[in-house]
Amino acid sequence: MRILGIETSCDETAVAIYEGDRDGGRVLAEQVASQIESHARFGGVVPEVASREHLKALPAMVETVMNTAALDWREIDHIAVTAGPGLMGALLVGVSYARALGAVNGIPVIPVHHMEGHMLAPGLSDEGLPDFPFITLLVSGGHTLLVRVDAIGRYKIIGQTIDDAAGECFDKSARLLGLPYPGGPEIARLAEQGDSSRFALPRPLLNQNNLNFSFSGLKTAVMHAVKKHGGMDNQTIAHMASAIEAAICDVLVKKSLRACEQERVKRLVIAGGVAANSTLRSLLRRETSIDGVQAYLPHQKYCTDNAAMIAYASLLWLSKGECNMKAFDAKPKWSLQTCHS
Ligand code: KG4
Ligand code: ZN
Repeated sequence: MRILGIETSCDETAVAIYEGDRDGGRVLAEQVASQIESHARFGGVVPEVASREHLKALPAMVETVMNTAALDWREIDHIAVTAGPGLMGALLVGVSYARALGAVNGIPVIPVHHMEGHMLAPGLSDEGLPDFPFITLLVSGGHTLLVRVDAIGRYKIIGQTIDDAAGECFDKSARLLGLPYPGGPEIARLAEQGDSSRFALPRPLLNQNNLNFSFSGLKTAVMHAVKKHGGMDNQTIAHMASAIEAAICDVLVKKSLRACEQERVKRLVIAGGVAANSTLRSLLRRETSIDGVQAYLPHQKYCTDNAAMIAYASLLWLSKGECNMKAFDAKPKWSLQTCHS
């Protein structure tokens, strides 16, 4: 099966072709175009700008991946497109474009839940997805979830943030420090030159015996520290970046291991943009090995938004023979549990 995937939920336009079956496969061609420069002067993503940039980028990107894979439209079996959640206008551009391509070339179009794409992205590695059940820590700009995965489509959210998402905390804290968007990679870069012990930042909900997260207090602590220090020099900003990264990673790793313990599951997957963070990845590797838990980390390029994960998620559904081809007309509800039912 060959699937063309399209992803336009936020500020990255992505197109990919995945070829495979339920036992494995490979990415034949892929492209990701970042819009960061177009949004930079606004300090965050402007929905209208994002929609226009997707529309501008898509035609050439689709043509490029088709040429790179040396495929004819008759050789594409399905088109998979992110249908939510995300910015409404940006999603509309991707979905409309996918449906137009499908109509012109007589190819069925499959809606994919963006977070399910992230969650299944570790399966893009050579080893494929771990055996079920496994726990996924899903950490992106808008979500922080702990999900128990029992099968494709059988997902149970066992923990989540009660306020800001982890990525949102990286982004908002970076903004308080005067760093550009997106803040996660900026904080990660500066943290390498800093000492996390220079600032004592809170680890919200860490000592509560549940699987929930809270990051808004951490952001507020950063705000107070910035106010107290007045103008921070570069080295102080690096110390603060390091302290922010350490606090977020500490909570994410400890709660993930608690989830594994509670569910008696020894396989842990991390996914979503924040999963690209090198400190989080090494801390997770270290702590899971101490606890006898096996860690599965997608390649960093498949942590942040991409279209290979969208094509791959739809392939897993198609292999089950359960995908509802009429899902676009069926008013899908956008929750992880029901998007494909
Ligand atoms: O999954 P993603 O690309 O888009 C969403 O679905 O939200 O995640 C974007 C988030 C942003 O908050 C960004 O700051 C964060 O992931 N991020 C990182 C890193 N790379 C991206 N956070 C920490 N460290 C990174 N290296
Ligand atoms: Zn995403």
